[in-house]
Amino acid sequence: ISLYCKEGSRLLPRPISICEINKEDAILRIVYRIAGEGTKEFSKLASGDSLAVIGPLGNGFFQRDGRAILIGGGIGIPPLLELAKSLPGEVTAVLGYRDSDLFLAKEFEPYAKVVISTEDGSAGTKGNVIDAIRENDLTADVLYSCGPIPMLRGVKEYAMEKGIEAQISMEERMACGIGACLACVCQSKEKDSHSHVNNKRVCKDGPVFFAQDIEL
Ligand code: FES
Repeated sequence: ISLYCKEGSRLLPRPISICEINKEDAILRIVYRIAGEGTKEFSKLASGDSLAVIGPLGNGFFQRDGRAILIGGGIGIPPLLELAKSLPGEVTAVLGYRDSDLFLAKEFEPYAKVVISTEDGSAGTKGNVIDAIRENDLTADVLYSCGPIPMLRGVKEYAMEKGIEAQISMEERMACGIGACLACVCQSKEKDSHSHVNNKRVCKDGPVFFAQDIEL
């Protein structure tokens, strides 16, 4: 979804992924990092305040049967929680953190086996998410991943090495959020049929792509 600031000088909406969906009570939960003035403004909202939101935008993960590994790094972890809840098969969540601030990890536990990696070695495997997968000898039929580009690159390589499907959710700076401005393009393997360039719009064609379809 994209959220608009109330402060008039900040015109562009901020794209934030959905962490949880509570259909019964009509609640969407978002978990975000304060990264600039827009998110700082959101963090000051109080219960009952209102905000303009557009969405849902773009696609989501394509849910498969079979064993799944969810791989999240940092602020790429929140959008995997709703997925963990809704996948039909056996789910392992490999969550990568910088340090011992293991935000959301406990919330995955009812839905997945949770495996942790930390850069500083304060919890779980010391290293990155792929180190944790190898150390714990994890296997699956499909990988779902969201996080920083170097991590996604590692996930893509790992999936190719093992011959399994990997879906990755990309994060890009965005402007319009609806496919009109091309501020958010990433490089794709195939040429786009309209523009004949190797681009895909993260906001409209994604944010989820099959790893083999995009260049990382
Ligand atoms: Fe404008 Fe994606 S943000 S096309």
